[in-house]
Amino acid sequence: SGQESMPLHGIRGLQSKVRELQESPGGLGFGRYFTDHMLLMDYEEGTGWGEPRIVPYGPLLLDPASKVFHYGQTVFEGMKAFKWKDGRARLFRPLDHVRRLNRSCARMCVPAVDEARVLGALRRLVTADADWIPEAPGTSLYIRPFVVATETQLGVAPSRSYAFVAICSPVGAYYAEGVRPVPIYVETEHVRAVAGGVGDAKTAGNYAAGLKAQEAAARMGCAQVLWLDGVEREYVEEVGSMNAFFRFGDEIVTPPLGGSILAGVTRDSVIRLLRGWGVSVSERPVSIGEVAAGLRDGKLREAFGTGTAAVVSPIGSLHWRGERLTVGDGEPGELSKRLYETLSGIQRGELPDAYGWMEVV
Ligand code: COI
Repeated sequence: SGQESMPLHGIRGLQSKVRELQESPGGLGFGRYFTDHMLLMDYEEGTGWGEPRIVPYGPLLLDPASKVFHYGQTVFEGMKAFKWKDGRARLFRPLDHVRRLNRSCARMCVPAVDEARVLGALRRLVTADADWIPEAPGTSLYIRPFVVATETQLGVAPSRSYAFVAICSPVGAYYAEGVRPVPIYVETEHVRAVAGGVGDAKTAGNYAAGLKAQEAAARMGCAQVLWLDGVEREYVEEVGSMNAFFRFGDEIVTPPLGGSILAGVTRDSVIRLLRGWGVSVSERPVSIGEVAAGLRDGKLREAFGTGTAAVVSPIGSLHWRGERLTVGDGEPGELSKRLYETLSGIQRGELPDAYGWMEVV
């Protein structure tokens, strides 16, 4: 953990420590190490959100009656900072992440945060821990803001107090060997979310709800779950914790945001890049039957997930009703690769930021 490794800082300096972790056998991994500081901001009914403050990273002291432990009133975000060759850090679409945090808050009856104030505080946090930003290709500083309900009262009602916290983790390339297609298990029993529920909010329960199916997927030798809709068990929703994309011929299809699907910032970026390249993108329902037929007749040429953590993750095969259907030749598809390289290139400052996605910290 970040705490165990702390004594090293003073001796060797952070950049060499981050490089050392990166080169260690397990690499940086994802969310394994944490930086020196965190952001805290408290909310009290009546006075609202207080001043954000940067404090040393460490445990939170929470009363066991805090509502978050009992009723899961909590939201989170995930965004990334990158260190460019000029030595300055950039955030990828930070305002879009803070806006989405507020949409999640609205759904979970958590009071909205002031976007400008939170963005300013996140910038100060990243500046304070800038030496923790790894520099190798594929690496970044993952920022995890979250809000928990802290009122100490067991009635089922929105909390009257909250803590906003943001922590940072230097993370490695999601896939050590580069973008690699993974086998996916099509879940036909459990569902992740239904329209009208909280599937479009970034809230802890959605991820807890997915663990059972993820275990089943792992037993089948699959890396992730392909989620189907909760009503007909027919239409594709998400893949693992990512948005799903399919390429039929020259058309790219992704499920529409109907209330059960998270509005991914990477999803939006990928749609805009594709349309900018003149590729036709349809946000329309796509059934598992259509996907399976496309895999059998070869019309489905690529399938991939998109998310902040992995950026673009190609699907190598689908395990559905006991059958294993391979996507293409098992290698990353042409558009999957191009999207990954373009997004990573923009994030690292190696390609022009034509959409104005990168913000100097
Ligand atoms: C993603 O970045 O794709 C996510 O959904 C965050 C994940 C680590 C929960």
